[in-house]
Amino acid sequence: MADKSTKGLADVVAASTALSDIDGKAGRLFYRGYDIHDLAGRATFEEVAHLLQRGRLPDRAELAAYSESLAAGREPGPLAAANIAEIAGKQTPMEALRSLVSLAAADDPDKDSTAHEANLRKAARLTAQQPVLVARYHAARTGGSVPDADPELSIAGNFLLQVTGRRPEPRQVEIFDECLVLHADHTMNASTFAARVCAATLSDMHSAIVAAIGTLKGPLHGGANEQVMKTLESIPADGVAQAVRERLAAGEKIMGFGHRVYKTEDPRATHLRRMSAELAEAAGDDTYYRMSKEMEEVVFEAKGLYPNVDFYAASVYHYLGIPTDLFTPVFSISRMSGWTAHVIEQHADNRLIRPDSEYIGETDQKWKPIDER
Ligand code: COA
Repeated sequence: MADKSTKGLADVVAASTALSDIDGKAGRLFYRGYDIHDLAGRATFEEVAHLLQRGRLPDRAELAAYSESLAAGREPGPLAAANIAEIAGKQTPMEALRSLVSLAAADDPDKDSTAHEANLRKAARLTAQQPVLVARYHAARTGGSVPDADPELSIAGNFLLQVTGRRPEPRQVEIFDECLVLHADHTMNASTFAARVCAATLSDMHSAIVAAIGTLKGPLHGGANEQVMKTLESIPADGVAQAVRERLAAGEKIMGFGHRVYKTEDPRATHLRRMSAELAEAAGDDTYYRMSKEMEEVVFEAKGLYPNVDFYAASVYHYLGIPTDLFTPVFSISRMSGWTAHVIEQHADNRLIRPDSEYIGETDQKWKPIDER
């Protein structure tokens, strides 16, 4: 039988989008036509979220209005808020986010509408609530409390404040903000595709985001950043080359390397490597940065693979004081801007996403009653 399927849908164009574009050969990424290298370290996450959700980089008045809507929508509804403590005792961080976003839908005044204006409002609320949910979850499981958001701080600054309980240094806020910018959108990655499939049934935005969070959770997607940190923690600082070679020889994948689309360096990794180096120097302990550099060299030499976005994000988040099992939730804080923008785009020009499958099972089976089987 001819192989009609394309395993993993590699190279299949599954949607048209004006949100982001990748040139995998040249290692370039664009948000609405802006090169990520021009945005990183210049545009704030709020500006990029506005660009993705509302179609353009905001002017000052638009940014002020958008920031106001983020601040106004930051508080998760009463149902989600009331259940955080119990969920924190029973679910891992990504499971908890999946549950809490679902609960948050109950109190969203626009929950039953897929109209454009309603979607814009929901996109802002989901983007504003995600970091608060992560910080409250963390506080609930550690018995800590969450400091009030500071109106002077950005989403990045408030998240660092609320998750670590300490006021972050301005440079830490800048670096974390840049991380959020770098993770905001990435064409038809698995979680975005999941969100679009859900939205294309004309289901609501919260349902699409729940599908996306469940998809991001997997170790081949967003979960890789946590696995990178666990790898760094599990091998001796002076035994990187040996550990990597042993794992490769055993047929294991090294988390944080390889990419479906990039055939050269992931442009996001370029910025994250630089940030990791800077934070390592500021911390006065560059162990994880040095180990990461060595791992990068060994994996390239052995397999010709480049680090992806998750590789240096691990040491950056570690140096920023973010607990390892919150690394993937941090990815979702940023990607919420892209997911919601994709749902808006899907609803604006919708067609049900329903691909075909290639049947590879038995044929001509003869029915037998249960006692004759
Ligand atoms: N470590 C070791 N080998 C790897 C590898 C890695 N991280 N990533 C890919 N490879 C190898 C595969 O073993 C395979 O080799 P083979 O042809 O000899 O069997 C080849 O490269 C192609 O990999 P494959 O998994 O088929 O590519 P894909 O396009 O389906 O998958 C990823 C892409 C990202 C899922 C894959 O590179 C991976 O699992 N990386 C680790 C997880 C990760 O970092 N995910 C975050 C992505 S942003």
